[in-house]
Amino acid sequence: MHTVAVQLGRRRYAIKIGAGLLRRLGGECVRLKLGSRCAIITDTNVGRRYAKETFNSLARAGFSPSLIVVPAGETAKNLKTVQMCYDLLAAHRLERKSFIVALGGGVTGDLAGFVAATYLRGIAFLQVPTTLLAQVDSSVGGKVGVNLKAGKNLVGAFYQPRLVLCDLDTLKTLPEREYRAGLAEVIKYGIIYDAKLFAQLECDLPKLLRRQPGTLAGVVARCCEIKADVVSQDETESGLRAILNFGHTIGHAIENISGYGKYLHGEAIAIGQVAAARLSARVLGIPGRDVERIAGLFKRIGLPVTINLKTLQRKRLLAAMKLDKKVSGGEVKFVLAKRIGKVEFGCKVPAELIEQSLNSQPLGAAKRSGDGSTLN
Ligand SMILES: NC(=O)c1ccc[n+]([C@@H]2O[C@H](COP(=O)([O-])OP(=O)(O)OC[C@H]3O[C@@H](n4cnc5c(N)ncnc54)[C@H](O)[C@@H]3O)[C@@H](O)[C@H]2O)c1
Ligand SMILES: [Zn+2]
Repeated sequence: MHTVAVQLGRRRYAIKIGAGLLRRLGGECVRLKLGSRCAIITDTNVGRRYAKETFNSLARAGFSPSLIVVPAGETAKNLKTVQMCYDLLAAHRLERKSFIVALGGGVTGDLAGFVAATYLRGIAFLQVPTTLLAQVDSSVGGKVGVNLKAGKNLVGAFYQPRLVLCDLDTLKTLPEREYRAGLAEVIKYGIIYDAKLFAQLECDLPKLLRRQPGTLAGVVARCCEIKADVVSQDETESGLRAILNFGHTIGHAIENISGYGKYLHGEAIAIGQVAAARLSARVLGIPGRDVERIAGLFKRIGLPVTINLKTLQRKRLLAAMKLDKKVSGGEVKFVLAKRIGKVEFGCKVPAELIEQSLNSQPLGAAKRSGDGSTLN
């Protein structure tokens, strides 16, 4: 088992990564000296597979768990579902010392974390992430929240979990497309922080695609370490934490104009990261070879790296970028790379360059068919 510490003073916590951890959840909660009553919040897909084991582990350790199952999918990440959770928590008589276990992907973690942050002005919660994206990204760092009709994650809080338990066995049942999309976040850590990790991913990709346990454990742990390192330096995103948004300015805009459905988040940020790499060549002079390595790795995973937009769609994309909540004073700022492993944030980029970065092939490379994806 790997353990990564998130150093946040009194709110510090551990991320534990390994196989078979779900059945040890109860013991971990005993060690944290949590109150006896608790609620597991999960979604229909994850609950069907893992709720029983989670429930039994807690019950065996002497806790009284109740189970709250919400519909699977992004559309359930809203205030109506939050309200339903509050009502069930109250019905199960959860109190200040009680705690919540978020069992599922990023949707469940964000939702259950928000419920925990606000119910009785905040009760303890644990993250038990079951998607690759949630294990390497959303479960760590304390951003919790839900969507409004006006946009994603517009209501939320910074609220840290007491423990993150990444049971790698749960990834065995993750659909292939979700797994590959999660790898886009993994690659991001290599680009923004760790050239050695990037090189390891290039080398170990076949093993990772087979979900080989040993390789996966090391890679998930390294990603958590990087996220923990960044978050502990800048918990509430006043500076450095912005680097985690590499590829996300364009990625979020793609998700937005395509109506949150055509692309999974990881797919949209694969396009976004390759576009950001191309912009980096123009703005920061990242070597062409690095841009090719970045695009090459996404392609090997089968993730999209370009998007074919009609003129009107391109306008909508640029407009969507300006609406991103990370924009300040109407100016879009980018995270760009100087080289693989080193990025800068707060970079200003002219709109024409953004457009070019989406469609053009990097540095005169020949266009290969099948790399681009089309937005209808
Ligand atoms: N808080 C943060 O810092 C942060 C960071 C990144 C993303 N997010 C949020 O995360 C969400 C996306 O998370 P996600 O990609 O995990 O999506 P998700 O939670 O919707 O999970 C994807 C799908 O996989 C299913 N699933 C989950 N685990 C499974 C398993 N082990 N076996 C089989 N099926 C399983 C789910 O039911 C769902 O259908 C978005 O809402 C995004 O805003 C938050
Ligand atoms: Zn992301």
